[in-house]
Amino acid sequence: MPVKKSTTKRAVLRKKQVRVALIGAGAMANGVHYPSLAEMGDVEMTALCDLDAKKLADTARRFGISRTYQDYRRMLDTEKPDAVYCLMPPHHVFDVAMDVMSRGHHLFIEKPPGLNAFQNRRMAECVARNKVIAVCGFQRRYVPLFTSLRNRVEKRGPIHTVVVTFVKCSYPGASYYNGAIDILSCDAVHAVDTLRHYCGGEVVSVASDVRNLGAEDNNAFYAIAKFSSGATGILQTNWAVGRRFFKLELHAQGISAYADPDDSGVLYQDGKLEGESFDPAQCAGNDADWHRWGFFAENRHFIDCVKGNAKPNSSLSDTVKTMELVDRIYHSQI
Ligand SMILES: NC(=O)c1ccc[n+]([C@@H]2O[C@H](COP(=O)([O-])OP(=O)(O)OC[C@H]3O[C@@H](n4cnc5c(N)ncnc54)[C@H](O)[C@@H]3O)[C@@H](O)[C@H]2O)c1
Repeated sequence: MPVKKSTTKRAVLRKKQVRVALIGAGAMANGVHYPSLAEMGDVEMTALCDLDAKKLADTARRFGISRTYQDYRRMLDTEKPDAVYCLMPPHHVFDVAMDVMSRGHHLFIEKPPGLNAFQNRRMAECVARNKVIAVCGFQRRYVPLFTSLRNRVEKRGPIHTVVVTFVKCSYPGASYYNGAIDILSCDAVHAVDTLRHYCGGEVVSVASDVRNLGAEDNNAFYAIAKFSSGATGILQTNWAVGRRFFKLELHAQGISAYADPDDSGVLYQDGKLEGESFDPAQCAGNDADWHRWGFFAENRHFIDCVKGNAKPNSSLSDTVKTMELVDRIYHSQI
């Protein structure tokens, strides 16, 4: 993904190696982010922190990190890293993220960017105050299959319709983290962000249907949104179906793309029934999950932005608009 030059006065990082301190030794850290960083020759995984001694030791051993801490403040005071990864539960991330940025470190956090738009806005203000680069991990923006198909569709003309389908079988599941955060803000937010990203422009208007299908909390969210780009976005999320899928459709005049990074992508043109197939691993250049699902690309983008003092995609300022769209989905029910 190309990086845009930032207008702030931060200095370009002249060192070859970016020194990264890591908070969190949990599932996302071990599953996708640290494997991505470990593949980068210009990243030094300097130190690791977790409250849980076993996870800390296991993860440090796996990635060859010799400096470990159970207090992230001590880690930052001692190591003085260029950037910090903060991969923690969403209801604990706000205080740590604000502190990390206030100390002047660049920051990567996972989705959601705070519990709600309010917290995200406060974090975005902290980014601006401290002139740091801060990215939220909405990896669907970076999925190589999606970006390859988008490039092909946009060659024919502007995208007029985007359909995002994100469904799961967690019926009769309820909200996340023992009720700390709702399904739409915590997880279905991936689909909301994907809709915004591929529609482009600003949200003009929204109509929605929010349902509770036999669960403790709302677990199905449908929306149609008009964007200033001229695109219409259709969101279908539901946690009470038969199995998990994440699918993206992109349509422009005479051309349509249907994509699922766990399966394949197909491009159809001019009414022909035969499509052109796209292989997710081939688009990514690698079959590992963290490549196919865009994690490697989003981490690479963050590191490139830190090195080049560039304005990131999925910055904490941009994701405020995603969290605001979540609010609008709740408040625009038909
Ligand atoms: N992008 C995606 O597709 C995706 C998928 C799942 C989860 N997530 C997000 O990733 C984030 C992390 O989720 P996870 O599943 O990896 O969580 P996890 O519970 O597996 O790991 C979190 C780790 O943070 C540690 N921790 C908590 N507070 C700490 C503190 N103050 N200092 C040091 N360590 C601390 C915990 O001990 C734990 O090891 C969440 O925000 C979640 O929403 C994203």
